Amino acid sequence: MTTRKQAGDGPAAKPPSDSYTETKTVMELQHLNIANTVHGGEIFRLVDNAGALAAFIHSDGPVVTAAIDTMSFLKPVHLGDLVTVTAVVNATYHTSMEVGLTVSAYTPRTRETRTVATAYLVFVAVDDADPQEPSPRPVPPLLVRSGDERQRQRDAAIRRASRLRLRAALQRAAGGRRATGGRAGD
Ligand SMILES: CC(C)(COP(=O)(O)OP(=O)(O)OC[C@H]1O[C@@H](n2cnc3c(N)ncnc32)[C@H](O)[C@@H]1OP(=O)(O)O)[C@@H](O)C(=O)NCCC(=O)NCCS
Repeated sequence: MTTRKQAGDGPAAKPPSDSYTETKTVMELQHLNIANTVHGGEIFRLVDNAGALAAFIHSDGPVVTAAIDTMSFLKPVHLGDLVTVTAVVNATYHTSMEVGLTVSAYTPRTRETRTVATAYLVFVAVDDADPQEPSPRPVPPLLVRSGDERQRQRDAAIRRASRLRLRAALQRAAGGRRATGGRAGD
């Protein structure tokens, strides 16, 4: 069984609850798009911030967003809605972490709360020696205990394996050169 104290020199394991993060923001006029609903980019900004905060807390230092694994917009968000973003570290690897995020919106007029988006983001812990050339640093292992935490860790491993397969396939298709159109995930 994994315990908080790890043998060796690596950082001690931490449970997902240590870095669980919840942020709340009221949607104002400047957040609207031309269709008069909240801009998807605004929702993503809140997601990225909450995810980075959870990853920062887990890894005890600066992180950068490496990849948006998936982001699904499920329902529109409106002016005056209170948007809550929850973020939890699902899995850790050597220097990277997958963070799972859920976005809900509360409409004060109707007192209705609904899930409006979900996302999985990958963050890499970096040292802050040179902000121009961030250098990845090891992250603490995740101390998973409950069935739900184990399930989230397993699901994250499936997503990571899928990213690795996709990258390898694109590299093969490109004849060993890096595929064009951006890095294809890791
Ligand atoms: C993320 C970054 C630090 C990785 O640097 P790198 O030199 O490619 O590092 P490595 O190849 O050694 O990979 C380091 C880790 O990042 C992960 N990683 C790198 N690119 C990734 C990608 N596109 N998707 C998912 N994970 C990725 C690797 O899997 C590895 O994880 P692991 O150590 O847990 O196995 C670098 O690509 C970077 O600085 N990107 C820009 C980040 C940024 O500006 N984000 C937006 C604003 S915060």
